[in-house]
Amino acid sequence: MNTLLEIADLHVAYGKAEVVHGTSLTVGEGEFVTLLGRNGAGKSTILHAISGLIPKQSGAVRFAGQDITGATPRDIVRAGLVQVLEGHRVFHPLTVEDNLLIGTYAKSKRGDRSKLPAIYDLFPEMAERRHQPASRLSGGQQQILAVAQGIIAEPKLLILDEPSGGLAPLVIDRILDVARALSRDGVAILLVEQLVEKALAHADRCYLMATGRIVHEGLAKELAGSDILHSAYLGSGAV
Ligand SMILES: Nc1ncnc2c1ncn2[C@@H]1O[C@H](COP(=O)(O)OP(=O)(O)O)[C@@H](O)[C@H]1O
Ligand SMILES: [Mg+2]
Repeated sequence: MNTLLEIADLHVAYGKAEVVHGTSLTVGEGEFVTLLGRNGAGKSTILHAISGLIPKQSGAVRFAGQDITGATPRDIVRAGLVQVLEGHRVFHPLTVEDNLLIGTYAKSKRGDRSKLPAIYDLFPEMAERRHQPASRLSGGQQQILAVAQGIIAEPKLLILDEPSGGLAPLVIDRILDVARALSRDGVAILLVEQLVEKALAHADRCYLMATGRIVHEGLAKELAGSDILHSAYLGSGAV
């Protein structure tokens, strides 16, 4: 498998407080990788740094053969790395359809309506609500819209930050099944998720983080149910 994303020795700080202390990880083309760890471990910080949303102190990020360490968020999206942020963020005053069209701006300046039918096939509830403002959707529907907005951009790598956040289990299962199907079609997935068992059931490979460091890396099916996982989430915090 060819490497799509490669992060080498990434350090990230907020002001003087470093919260990511030299992280390295890779995601292969079409690979489904999950990044796990307790709240506050630094997962979202890594994702934001990869997407260019916050500065990196040091380290390097390569994506699809390019060095994107200092690239702008817009150029990173254009290169095919798309992140769905935590907390189902969509544009509330805009309709469902306009939110989806925004997702196509990465590849087409005026928005590309030809991409809509495939997304509506995947998420029929979005087709039914296409003319409603996003503010009228439930939390679960907004999260589906946020994920759909990421998918319609046709990324090489789709990053999902806690898609389950406060939603019903059925919504999460659907989102993870869609992510799994995308990865079978060659789209790489990097998933951060608190529903650890679900994440491990869908992913190929996993990284486990604690306080700014990767403490374990391996096959998802091997980590599921292991002592390492147990101590990372329930133990003293040493792991
Ligand atoms: N904007 C911020 N300013 C200062 N500290 C932050 C900010 N965002 C996150 N942090 C801190 O950085 C650490 C990692 O946070 P985060 O990356 O959000 O963790 P996770 O996503 O794993 O829950 C935490 O200690 C958190 O309090
Ligand atoms: Mg987070």
